[in-house]
Amino acid sequence: MPALNRVMTIFERLRADHDVQRTLMRLLLKTHGDSSGRKELFGRLKRAIETHAEAEERAFYAPLLASELGREPAADAVREHGQVRDLLGELEQHDMSSSGWLAKAKVMVDLNEHHMQEEERKTFEVAAQVLSDSDHQQLVREFDTYSDRVRAAE
Ligand SMILES: [Fe+2]
Ligand SMILES: [Fe+2]
Repeated sequence: MPALNRVMTIFERLRADHDVQRTLMRLLLKTHGDSSGRKELFGRLKRAIETHAEAEERAFYAPLLASELGREPAADAVREHGQVRDLLGELEQHDMSSSGWLAKAKVMVDLNEHHMQEEERKTFEVAAQVLSDSDHQQLVREFDTYSDRVRAAE
């Protein structure tokens, strides 16, 4: 198939978002104390993760949850989204200048990285069996629409 006519798969779209999160997580772990850099990066990362999770649940996990093969991995992933959200909430409440903040941020980063790797290595494989080639364009469109809507509501 000629490259120009190739439609982006939902997997490529989600992976592009994951890579943005990876960059922000790497930068966040290099910040120190109650600095403006830490504040800004944490805010950007939190928004990126939360927007991604919400759009992913609606445009990607909804069809998987409705399928026999995808139900269990999708339910696990949605549960992990909740754990990452909880940690982000705790980090937001926690004093950024305290020594425990970075340790907690590292726990959140490790959990989120593990979650994204599992999506990329296992869940995408299951989803490839559930979704037809023609589903992808529609799902990418839905994913982008939900992401825009979440961002606009902030
Ligand atoms: Fe996810
Ligand atoms: Fe994801």
